[in-house]
Amino acid sequence: MADYIVKDIALAGFGRKELDIAETEMPGLMACREEFGKTKPLKGARIAGSLHMTVQTAVLIETLKVLGADVRWASCNIFSTQDHAAAAIAATGTPVFAIKGESLEEYWAYTDQIFRFAEGTANMILDDGGDATLYILLGARVEAGETDLIAVPTSDEEVCLFNQIKKRMAETPGWFTQQRAAIKGVSEETTTGVHRLYDLHKKGLLPFPAINVNDSVTKSKFDNKYGCKESLVDGIRRATDVMMAGKVAVVCGYGDVGKGCAASLQGAGARVKVTEVDPICALQAAMDGFEVVLLEDEAPKADIFVTTTGNKDVIRIEHMRVMKDMAIVGNIGHFDNEIQVASLRNHKWTNIKDQVDMIEMPSGNRIILLSEGRLLNLGNATGHPSFVMSASFTNQVLAQIELFTKGAEYAPGVYILPKHLDEKVARLHLAKIGVKLTELRPDQAEYIGVTVEGPYKADHYRY
Ligand code: NAI
Repeated sequence: MADYIVKDIALAGFGRKELDIAETEMPGLMACREEFGKTKPLKGARIAGSLHMTVQTAVLIETLKVLGADVRWASCNIFSTQDHAAAAIAATGTPVFAIKGESLEEYWAYTDQIFRFAEGTANMILDDGGDATLYILLGARVEAGETDLIAVPTSDEEVCLFNQIKKRMAETPGWFTQQRAAIKGVSEETTTGVHRLYDLHKKGLLPFPAINVNDSVTKSKFDNKYGCKESLVDGIRRATDVMMAGKVAVVCGYGDVGKGCAASLQGAGARVKVTEVDPICALQAAMDGFEVVLLEDEAPKADIFVTTTGNKDVIRIEHMRVMKDMAIVGNIGHFDNEIQVASLRNHKWTNIKDQVDMIEMPSGNRIILLSEGRLLNLGNATGHPSFVMSASFTNQVLAQIELFTKGAEYAPGVYILPKHLDEKVARLHLAKIGVKLTELRPDQAEYIGVTVEGPYKADHYRY
């Protein structure tokens, strides 16, 4: 039986053509293949990967394989798979379990699949949002009869997760504990997953070292910001074709993602307003020229609402009840709980097309909800462009090499890649866009207290 689940394997040819193009825009990953392809530092690594199964991720997967790893893959969101990319990967014999629009039951069954190596276990996790890590750690706690991670499932997601855990426990007793013991480390892609890791570590429940890829400067200050700057408006346009210029858009949150989203909407001609809870980010927004407002005041007035907070219950039912007719509501944060979608379920939904729904509110006004509140840049469009993902994924590759080859030297905890590697990732992306880098003279380097080769900044520098 084929060791993959994809929408249509016949899409592999199309996927391969897009992969070939993506490779030309991913110089960091191609440089990794060049540098490490012969020594194969990931030989023996069995990587369970849970990250949006896009064209760019396909280039990451193939890079990990060139470096010697065995890989099994699933998407970290039910709407983010690009089926042709998944097919291209499956066609090369790499097990991938991902379909755009899969159900929540399928989502957790596919997450289960990524650990099912012929050898019995994975030994590395590459995660985005922390679901693969959660699956193993929660499963092992349930096996031990503990309820300290999640006591009672509350959301649909958690119900499906618990059902999948019970199913695996019944089929293979002791499986989760065995998986957990085999994992050397995890590299985590995004802000929300990193929050989860720090939280697990604080509770003493993180049994292996983790590398926080998100907080490499060449990840969060690029992917989260410039990536969203391109992919937010892309998602809204593909979903709605609405004229953006002149519309009033509210961006909830002005962190890295919020900054990119506000710039994205501004670039499209929208009049952008921002909400924030952090006075520093609120001041940044104001000084970048955005009016900082309260959602309560703007809900009846604005045309487009986007959540970027990584927090829960940001756009609530009371906000949506007063919105204008045909207001557009979407989220670009990692999980769908930023918008209270559950409280809309008893309203009348009209599906316009995949990942676009029109919902009738009690007032008679309708709202357009994108991707049922899941991250709209991947649900309604194709996520960030290859070039910026190359920077993120080069960090992922370096993190996997570090944890696989030197994991034993790390105590359980959450680590960030050293700055010289961060600078290396940036350096690998300069030539492609014609950047000419000035070289420090030795006396200048000495004067500012660095070496000619870098690192050029202290660890506390914030960029
Ligand atoms: P961040 O921590 O830099 O920014 C979040 C901001 O939201 C903070 O400034 C915080 O003060 C603010 N905030 C929190 N609660 C709020 C509330 N109730 N109202 C208004 N503002 C509030 O995090 P970052 O890196 O910007 O990530 C945000 C989310 O986006 C995370 O879930 C992350 O995982 C996700 N993400 C999504 C990507 C995508 O392609 N869709 C790419 C990168 C990250």
